[in-house]
Amino acid sequence: MGILKAVVVLTMISTLLLSIIWKATLDSDEDGNQNFIQCLLDNSVPSHPISSAIYTPESSSYSPVLQSYIRNLRFNESWTPKPFLILTPLHQSHVQAAVVCGKSHGVRMKIRSGGHDYEGLSYVSDVPFFLLDMFNLRSIDVDIEHESAWVQAGATLGEVFYRIGERSTTHGFPAGVCPTVGVGGHVSGAGYGNMMRKYGVSADNILDAVVVDADGRVLDRRSMGEDLFWAIRGGGGASFAVVVAYKIKLVRVPERVTVFQVEKTLGKDDVTDIVDQWQHVSHNLPEQLFIRLMLDVVKKTVRASFVSLFLGDSDSLISIMNDRFPKLGLTKSDCIELSWVKSILFWSNIPLDTDNKVLLDRTLPTLYHLTRKSDYVREPIPKPGLDSIWKKMIELETPKMYFNPYGGKMAEIVEQEIPFPHRAGNLWKIQYIANWKEQGIEKANFYIDLTRKLHEFMTPFVSNNPRRAFLNYRDADLGTDYHKKGMHEEARAQGIKWFMGNFDRLVKIKGEVDPSNFFRYEQSIPLLPSLQHSDASV
Ligand SMILES: Cc1cc2nc3c(=O)[nH]c(=O)nc-3n(C[C@H](O)[C@H](O)[C@H](O)COP(=O)(O)OP(=O)(O)OC[C@H]3O[C@@H](n4cnc5c(N)ncnc54)[C@H](O)[C@@H]3O)c2cc1C
Ligand SMILES: *[C@@H]1O[C@H](CO)[C@@H](O)[C@H](O)[C@H]1NC(C)=O
Repeated sequence: MGILKAVVVLTMISTLLLSIIWKATLDSDEDGNQNFIQCLLDNSVPSHPISSAIYTPESSSYSPVLQSYIRNLRFNESWTPKPFLILTPLHQSHVQAAVVCGKSHGVRMKIRSGGHDYEGLSYVSDVPFFLLDMFNLRSIDVDIEHESAWVQAGATLGEVFYRIGERSTTHGFPAGVCPTVGVGGHVSGAGYGNMMRKYGVSADNILDAVVVDADGRVLDRRSMGEDLFWAIRGGGGASFAVVVAYKIKLVRVPERVTVFQVEKTLGKDDVTDIVDQWQHVSHNLPEQLFIRLMLDVVKKTVRASFVSLFLGDSDSLISIMNDRFPKLGLTKSDCIELSWVKSILFWSNIPLDTDNKVLLDRTLPTLYHLTRKSDYVREPIPKPGLDSIWKKMIELETPKMYFNPYGGKMAEIVEQEIPFPHRAGNLWKIQYIANWKEQGIEKANFYIDLTRKLHEFMTPFVSNNPRRAFLNYRDADLGTDYHKKGMHEEARAQGIKWFMGNFDRLVKIKGEVDPSNFFRYEQSIPLLPSLQHSDASV
């Protein structure tokens, strides 16, 4: 037999072997999935059958269900890793079954509520996983008499705002202004909005919660204890438990509030002077006044837009502005008085004559490819620094920056109150933003790189050692491997950016409530090295 023939035969044999092995893995995967589904069925109660909540890739609803809550088109690609199964709980017993079976079968679970994670960490994974998709669990029970509401994790912020507004014209909830953001991720990661200077972040306004813990038990504040209850208010829910619902504290708002948006352009207005005054006053203003500064590049020059919510009438607002921030030159004609719920429409760029019911809309008119980063500024930036930033922004063109002032209540709450630690001493938070329409990995890398460059350029002006970051502005550049075994130092260096001195308490609680590290994801709170089992390393 010639060498060539031998090679051919060997190749044939190995191909055959490979295909047998391949088939076997496929079969065992399929068996595994079948066993997992059987486990779900076995663990559901007859009064709440689970079968209608299960979607496998073969089912025609699988793709629509998966895609419904992908809010970043970067992760709506054919090569985006997909779950081997989607479970959309219709009852909390289905969440329990998911945890019990996920744990006993050793499979990774991703939890998604509103799907707004900027890095898709709620529905993408490099290891095989199933998706626990919470959108069906979205009831909202408002109790005006006790100024509170029970809100399930799958509700959106818009639904929460609408349901409060339906019952009261003088109550609200401090949270982000994008109506489609989900309660589960938003609140568990702190959640801030334009009332934070008066009332703190969303997680500062939580009275109780219902979770399913790592043993599949349904617990409330009393039965979970104050440690776990502390962790799920800013520590990121997905490291600790599945949040089923939060009891939120409603806050008082006036019947009429005032909003404005004023734009200034470099070259036409004294942008540097105006921004300089903003950075000295914005964190010191009365706490019912919030003025966000949005910086972007339009027609090759910098535009500075000041958008505001004032919990009061326009006359009082003008007098505060004349006194404290005269350089903006705000006039009464810039101001709009409206109800608090309408102010959400204003902040979301929805025309004000639209019915408030638009807040119940779960679909976004346009989706983009997105990337975000964050920073904290602790000292005003010198004017020459501002000028250099304008030059850099014009050079890079796409990345925008939003400056969100702190101070007020944010500076009063102590750093240990909840895991979110960015309190006194922080003047404002920077959000770096790039949105784009073009598909493909090259374009994504191009815009991500521009955003990194702006972030890099800002280094001398922002917090350092550590360079602080906001968990809810998910950023993969901070690292996605440090939850793994043997990387505790790296995990700690990463974790203190989000949690400062609270990181160690989160690690301690993690070890107590989830010693087998079932609740893990790319940026989850790690177990202490002494608690890590070999099988908890992936
Ligand atoms: C358009 C847009 C606007 C935004 N505006 C703001 C803003 O104004 N203020 C602000 O603070 N943030 C804002 N964000 C960020 C937002 O708060 C976070 O992305 C938040 O995590 C989204 O929550 P979600 O439920 O929609 O996200 P998801 O993608 O579903 O979840 C985010 C994270 O939380 C985990 N998680 C979700 N649900 C649960 C649950 N039930 N139990 C345990 N873990 C869970 C996920 O596993 C994931 O790790 C915005 C994001 C977008 C895309
Ligand atoms: C997401 O991808 C699917 C499949 O390619 C496509 O049909 C859908 O339109 C995409 N969604 C958006 C909003 O582009």
